[in-house]
Amino acid sequence: MTQQVSELQELATKLFTQEFSSAAEIVCHAPGRVNIIGDHTDYNDGFVFPAAINFGTTIAAAKRDDKIVKVYAHDCDEQSNEFSLTDSSFDQSMMWTNYVKGTLLALMNKFPDINGANLVVTGNVPQGAGLSSSASFEIAILKTFAELYQLDLDGVTAALMGQQAENDFVGCNCGIMDQLISAMGQQGHAMLLDCKDLSFEDAPMPDDLAIFIVNSNVKRGLVDSAYNLRREQCEAVAKFFGVSALREVTMAQLHAAKEKISPELFKRAHHVVSENARAVTTLQALKTNDMATISAAMKQSHISLRDDFEVTTKEMDGLVEMIDGVLGVEGGVRMTGGGFGGCIVALVPTGLVAQVKDVVNNNYEKEFGLKPSIYHCMATKGAFR
Ligand code: GLA
Repeated sequence: MTQQVSELQELATKLFTQEFSSAAEIVCHAPGRVNIIGDHTDYNDGFVFPAAINFGTTIAAAKRDDKIVKVYAHDCDEQSNEFSLTDSSFDQSMMWTNYVKGTLLALMNKFPDINGANLVVTGNVPQGAGLSSSASFEIAILKTFAELYQLDLDGVTAALMGQQAENDFVGCNCGIMDQLISAMGQQGHAMLLDCKDLSFEDAPMPDDLAIFIVNSNVKRGLVDSAYNLRREQCEAVAKFFGVSALREVTMAQLHAAKEKISPELFKRAHHVVSENARAVTTLQALKTNDMATISAAMKQSHISLRDDFEVTTKEMDGLVEMIDGVLGVEGGVRMTGGGFGGCIVALVPTGLVAQVKDVVNNNYEKEFGLKPSIYHCMATKGAFR
C-alpha cells in the first residue's frame, strides 16, 4: 500500500515486457476514492462528497489487430486470461475478468469498432475495503482503450460506462460516485457531486488537514446482496411517495408519513434524506474552515449509517469512537463507502496525526483481535482530468 503511482507504472511496464515480449505502448492509471461524507445517497439521486486518492489501478497496454483481449492481472490469484470482444458471456471461474469484459461491452455500445489489446494490470487499492478498487479498475480500462484507440471519450461518459458494467454485467447495483470521482477527481480537492444531474463542484482540501483512512480489515461478506437490498428499500420508499428517487422527499414529508411505512423503511429513508443535507453542509463548512460543523456532520453521518441504515460493523464503530476521542471538534471521523466492513475515514489536523495513529495502534487489535492498516492519503486527480 505504500507504492506510489510512478512505482506502479514502472512495475506494469516491466511486467508487460516479460509477459508479452515487447514494449507497452502506453501506461494509464485511475485512482481509488475515499468518500468524506454522503454514503448510500448516490443511487438516490443525492449528494456525495468524495476525493480521489493516491492509491489506484495501473495498466500497461498495447493495441492488437484482432478482437482478442489478453490480460495479466498481477495482483490476482489466477493471473492470466484472454477472451474475444465478441464473447459477452459471464466468467464464473475468474471473477476479475468480468470487470474487464463488462466495461468493454459498455464501451463498445458507443465505439463498436475497437480492436483488442494486451494488458498488464497492477494496483495498490486494498480489495473489499470500501475504497473502490473495482471502479478504479473499470476507469483504468476505459482510459487505456480511449488512449490506445484515440477515442473521443469524456470522464463523465466513462463513469457511466463503468457503472453500467457493474449494474448490468457484474451484478452490483451501485451508484455513480466511485466511477465519477475516479475519472474526474481534482488534485488536492474533494468534490461535491450532485448525482441527480452529475454536476459537481471541486472543493480545496486545506493543507493542514490530513485524509486518514483506517482499514478495519473486516472482510466484507455478502456485500452485493445486502447492498442491493438497501437500494431496493430506498426505491420502495420513493415509490410510496410517487417520486423517482428519495432525493425528492423532504424530512417533513418523511415524518408526516411515518405511520404509513414500516419502521425499517422509515429508518433507511431517514438516513438518506438526512445524509444529503450533511454532504451539502460539509462542503459549505470546508469552504469557511468551520471544522466544528464538519466534525458534527461526520459524527451524525456515522451514527445514521450505524443505526438507521445498519451498514457498519462493531469494528468500524470501535475505530470511529477511539479516533473521535482524540479529535473532538478539531477533526471528523466516520465509516466510508458501502459499509459491512472495510474502512473509516478521518479528517485530521496535522498536529493530531501522531495521536490518532497511536490510539489506533494501541487499542484496535487489543479490542477486536485484528490488525488495522493505516493509510495517510492525498487527494489526487482522476484519470480523465
Ligand atoms: C459503494 C457503491 C457506491 C456508493 C457507496 C455508498 O461504494 O459503489 O455507488 O453507493 O457504496 O455510498
